[in-house]
Amino acid sequence: RCEHQSFVGNWKLNKTVREAAALVTSLQTLVADVTDVEIVVAPVFTGLSAVAQALAGGDIRLAAQDVFWEDSGAFTGEVSPGMLKDVGCDYVIIGHSERRQYFSETNENAKALRSERTGKTGAVVKDHVLNGIVGLSADQITSTVIAYEPVWAIGTGHNATPDQAQEVHALIRSLLSEIYSPDVASQVRIQYGGSVKPDNAAALIAQPDVDGALVGTASWEAESFAQIVKVVC
Ligand code: G3H
Repeated sequence: RCEHQSFVGNWKLNKTVREAAALVTSLQTLVADVTDVEIVVAPVFTGLSAVAQALAGGDIRLAAQDVFWEDSGAFTGEVSPGMLKDVGCDYVIIGHSERRQYFSETNENAKALRSERTGKTGAVVKDHVLNGIVGLSADQITSTVIAYEPVWAIGTGHNATPDQAQEVHALIRSLLSEIYSPDVASQVRIQYGGSVKPDNAAALIAQPDVDGALVGTASWEAESFAQIVKVVC
C-alpha cells in the first residue's frame, strides 16, 4: 500500500527562490530513507527552476500550482503545460478551492485535458469530480491525483475526521468505478487535504480510500512535511 501513497506539499504563495531551494534541500535530507511513497513539492512559478535544479537526480517530484491550457500565444501572464514540463514539472495542481474562491475559476476540466499528468480536481465532491474528469481516458485518470479538501478545513487547524474523509473518498472512488471500472478506480490516488499535520496524518492515511495527503501549511517547514511523509511507511 505504501507505493500507492502520495504526498504533495503545496507551498501556496510562499518562499523566495532562495528559501524554496533551501527548503527542498532540507527536505531531501530528511526523507532520504523514504523510497516507497511519492513525494511532490509545489513551489510558486518563480521557484520552479531553482527547485528543479536542487531536486535533480533525486526522487522528490515537482509540481506547479496552476496552468493554462494553450501551448503558446497572446495570453499575458499565463504558463502552458509544455512550459511546466520543460522546467521539470511532473504534476500541476488544478482546480484548488483557493483558485475558485479568489480568482473565480471554474475551468479545471480544460486544464486537466491539456495536462498529461495533473494535480487535483474538486472540493465540492460529485459535481467537481464529474466536471473535472469529463473526457479523460482511463490512462489519463490513472496518472491523475484527486484531492478532497473540505474548504472549512483548509488552513484552519480543523481537519476532517478520518471517518469523514473516508466517507467522501469512498464516494469519489465509487464515481470513478462507475465511469471507468473498479480496476481503474483502484489505481487512482485520492489524497485528503485540509489541516494535515504530523499528529493527525497517521489516522487519516490509515483509511482504506485515503492514498496520501495534499499538505499546505505543514509543508512550509521541511521537518513537519517530512514527519507527515514518514508517518505510515
Ligand atoms: O493545498 C493544500 C490545502 O489547501 C491544505 O492546506 O494544509 O494549510 O490546510 P492546509
